[in-house]
Parts: sequence; structure tokens; C-alpha cells
Amino acid sequence: MKPYAIALLPGDGVGPEVAAVARDVLVAVGERYSRSFTFTSELIGGVAIDATGESLPEATLAACRASDAIFLGAVGGPKWDGGSVRPEQGLLGLRKALELFANVRPTRVYSDLVDRSPLKREFVEDVDFVMFRELTGGSYFGERKRGPTFASDECLYTTGEVERIAHAAFAAARARRGKVTSVDKANVLETSRLWREVVTRVHASHYSDVQLEHALVDSLSMQLIRQPRAYDVILTENMFGDILSDEASVLGGSIGLSPSASLGAHGPALFEPVHGSAPDIAGRDLCNPIGAILSVGLLLRYGLRLQREAAGVEAAVEAAIAAGARTRDLGGDLGCRAMGEAVIDALHGVSAQTSHHVQMHWG
Ligand code: IPM
Ligand code: MG
Repeated sequence: MKPYAIALLPGDGVGPEVAAVARDVLVAVGERYSRSFTFTSELIGGVAIDATGESLPEATLAACRASDAIFLGAVGGPKWDGGSVRPEQGLLGLRKALELFANVRPTRVYSDLVDRSPLKREFVEDVDFVMFRELTGGSYFGERKRGPTFASDECLYTTGEVERIAHAAFAAARARRGKVTSVDKANVLETSRLWREVVTRVHASHYSDVQLEHALVDSLSMQLIRQPRAYDVILTENMFGDILSDEASVLGGSIGLSPSASLGAHGPALFEPVHGSAPDIAGRDLCNPIGAILSVGLLLRYGLRLQREAAGVEAAVEAAIAAGARTRDLGGDLGCRAMGEAVIDALHGVSAQTSHHVQMHWG
């Protein structure tokens, strides 16, 4: 069988540490399920700026295009603040070049970690929702202007951009609990009024079996803390999704647990933990690799369509946590590498059959 080609982009800060664990987990998946993977490692972000002057070198983009799936660690750090090229431009450029318009960020609360949540057990137990964040439009990609006494960031959305992310979110809801909460600021912004119109139309014409509600982003950010169990699929634009997904990630006890997938209509997709480069703890084997490992789970499921393998990785994470493996952000003392090893040990123990109870669905 042809091996799967994985492009690894370790990047900055803790990125290389979690990318190394991600790679080890894929190798272990290969042994466990008789699959083979080949890896190339490419530069992106600050390390790419240092080596080439560019945050997304041509060679990196070419390797990503030639791969079956891409794993990214993190980009950014204070070292590159104030420079003419920012590390984040590399990630934004990659999202745009590969048309990765759907950023999927699941939040679930592991029963063994409920007490790590800053919220009370009664609010967070059984929380399980997924955010669909539009990723290639809005103020992230509008025209930027700067004068001596002003600055502006254009926020632009087209009907087609809203339609395709809405379809992705509704399809995912259909495979889950059948509810979409679309988030906007339609009482103020014209782009939000367009967003609401288009989402309503896509719903009425294709997904009337799915429940749709609209929420304003300020109110939703409050409700997400007050009643996080009320949500199934949250659909929103780029900037709101950036903010709300960080908020969502604390519900489960640590941002270090959150994975993400960035999917396009065609071509390879990108998988990365939500936590970012965490420069304060970088290089000291202190970070939590679970967000990266669960991103490998998403890579297997959505990037390579290997459902059994994806479920195996998710079950191994659950088993390692149930057995008491904890990094420092979770109140334990395991380092990044040791936590990775705990999950790999658990992977060798999980049943080769798909474990349906841990399988997460979003289309
Ligand atoms: C994220 C990050 C990125 C974003 C940064 C690093 C550009 O915060 O993936 O959420 O704002 O999209
Ligand atoms: Mg963010």
C-alpha cells in the first residue's frame, strides 16, 4: 500500500516539541494498524523568517501541496515582534493558498478532567460542541491601510464564502445532535447582516431538518460560559471564531487539550493544536501534547479518511487521561514527551475495533 505523505511544519515556540510527539503518534498508529507514513519537515513562521527572510517559503508551500495532510505545531513569538514580516503571515498565507476555508474546533470535557475546569461541574459535565470558523475571509484578509493618524482593516464577505462554510456546519450538525447556532453582530455590521441572510437561506433550502438559531456575538460569549451544554455546532466568521474558540478551550480545563482541523474543498488539509507557540514554556518539555495528538486524530479522520485509526487515537488519549497521566497544565508533572509516551502506550492497548463512544462527528 502506498504510504501517506505527511508534511510536518513544527514552526516556533513549543511547536517543535508537539510536532515531534505528533510524528511519534503517527508512527505508532502505523505499527498498530499496518499503515505507513512518510514525513517531510518544512519551515514556517519565525524559524522560516530567520532562515530565509520569508514566513512561508516557496519550498514549504510546494511540500504542503504535494502531501496528503499537513501537521503544524505553532507560529509566532516575541522575538519577531516589530519586524517587517510577521510569523503569523506564514500561517495566514498557507490557509489562503490552500483555500482552507473551514476551521473545525471541537470542545469536549473529559469526565476525568471535569474538576480542572474553572467552571463548576454542573455547568461543564458532558459539554460537547464543535465550532465551525470561517477561515479565509473577513477582516483577516481585507485591505489594510495605515496613515499617520489612522488605520483601517476592511472586513469583507461574499455570498459564496458564507454559503460554503454554512453547508459544512449544517452537514456536520446533521451527523451530530442536529443544531446550529450561527453567531454574528447583525445589529451593527453589514457583513453580519449578509451572513445571517445567507445562513438562513442555506438552511431553508437544504437543511430544514436541522435546528437553526442566530445569536449576537457579545451575548453568545456570555452564554457559552453560562450554558455551554446548550451548543452542538457553532458557526461563525473568522475573527469572532478566533476569539470564541479560545474562550471555548478553557471549558475543558486547558487550552493545551484543544485540536483543530482546517479543511478546504480540495487538496490537503491542515491540522494544528489551538494553543499557539507558548514562548514562556518553549524548549523545556513542559507543554501538553494532547491538543497536537487529538489534531493527529482529526488528520487521520478528515485528512486521510482513516476512521478506525482516528478512533484509536481518541480512545488512547481518553485511556491515558483515565489512567492518571497529567501534564503540568492539568495539575500533574509529566513532561510533553512523557505524556506522548503515555498515549502511545495506551494506543497499543486499545481495541483495534472502532470505539464508537469516543468518536466525534462533524461531517
Ligand atoms: C488561531 C491563531 C491564529 C489566528 C494566529 C496565529 C494568526 O490565533 O489559529 O486561532 O488568529 O487565526
Ligand atoms: Mg486564535
